[in-house]
Parts: sequence; C-alpha cells; structure tokens
Amino acid sequence: MKLVIGSDHGGVDLKEEVKMVLKEFRDIEVTDVGTFGTDSVDYPDIAEKVCNAIMSGKADRGILLCGTGLGISIAANKFKGIRCAVCHDVFSAKMSRSHNDANVLAMGGRVIGFGSAGEVVRAWITTEFSGGRHARRINKISELENRK
Ligand code: RB5
Repeated sequence: MKLVIGSDHGGVDLKEEVKMVLKEFRDIEVTDVGTFGTDSVDYPDIAEKVCNAIMSGKADRGILLCGTGLGISIAANKFKGIRCAVCHDVFSAKMSRSHNDANVLAMGGRVIGFGSAGEVVRAWITTEFSGGRHARRINKISELENRK
C-alpha cells in the first residue's frame, strides 16, 4: 500500500510517531508531504497535498494530522473521492474502514496521546471495507459529489 501522510504544526510531533508505527508494516510505502517543523502553516494546504496524491493515484490512502483533526478533515472532505474520518478511538477507526471505506484518517495531535494514536493507526490500516450494503451507501456519497 502506498500511503501519504501530512500534518500542520499542531500535528507534526504526532506525524513522527505515526510514521514510526507505520514502519511495523513492511508492505506500506510512506510519503511525507510535510510540514517538517513547528512554524505555523495552514492545514488546508496540507490536506490538498495529501488528497491530490490520492486522487492522482500516487497513493492509496492518507493520514492527516492537525491540532484537533477537525480542520484538516473538513478540508480533505472537499476533495472528490476523499472520505476522511476523524478517529480518536479504535472502534471508530475500524468502522471508518469497514462501513465507510475511509481513505484518509485524521487525528489531532492536541487530542490523542502517542500510544492511543498508534492503536488507532494499526486498526485503521488492518481493517478492510466490508462492501455489500455499505458499498451502496458509498456510491450514494459519490453521487452527492456529482450534484451541482
Ligand atoms: C492550528 O492552530 C489549529 O487550528 C489546527 O491545527 C487544527 O486544530 C484546526 O482544526
């Protein structure tokens, strides 16, 4: 799996921790689009980089981190085909994959501790989409994107 990760300054420390967790998965190739320091940056710009990588096919899935996970997820969900879920617990992480086929995970560096975030990431990475009736609902989301 090709995975793209990005954060603003509020999620940059968590990004390094998440990258460490992702090293547990030999079949995951990680691309980090920044930010790379604590200087203030605007989270929509990071969301755009991650979502562009997915929409262009350069990445299969993404992880976005900001202070809360909220702003960056709101921005990500403006992009066609992106289903970004904010998850700060393992159950939500599993459901976001199983029921919602979330292709982007968002978390907040000011919300969740490193240990818990690692558990969320492991659950999110390893849970497959269930399909079936959930696929019908995902298709309806796609139809919403095409309405003017
Ligand atoms: C940046 O200070 C902060 O607003 C951002 O990281 C995020 O929490 C926004 O939703």
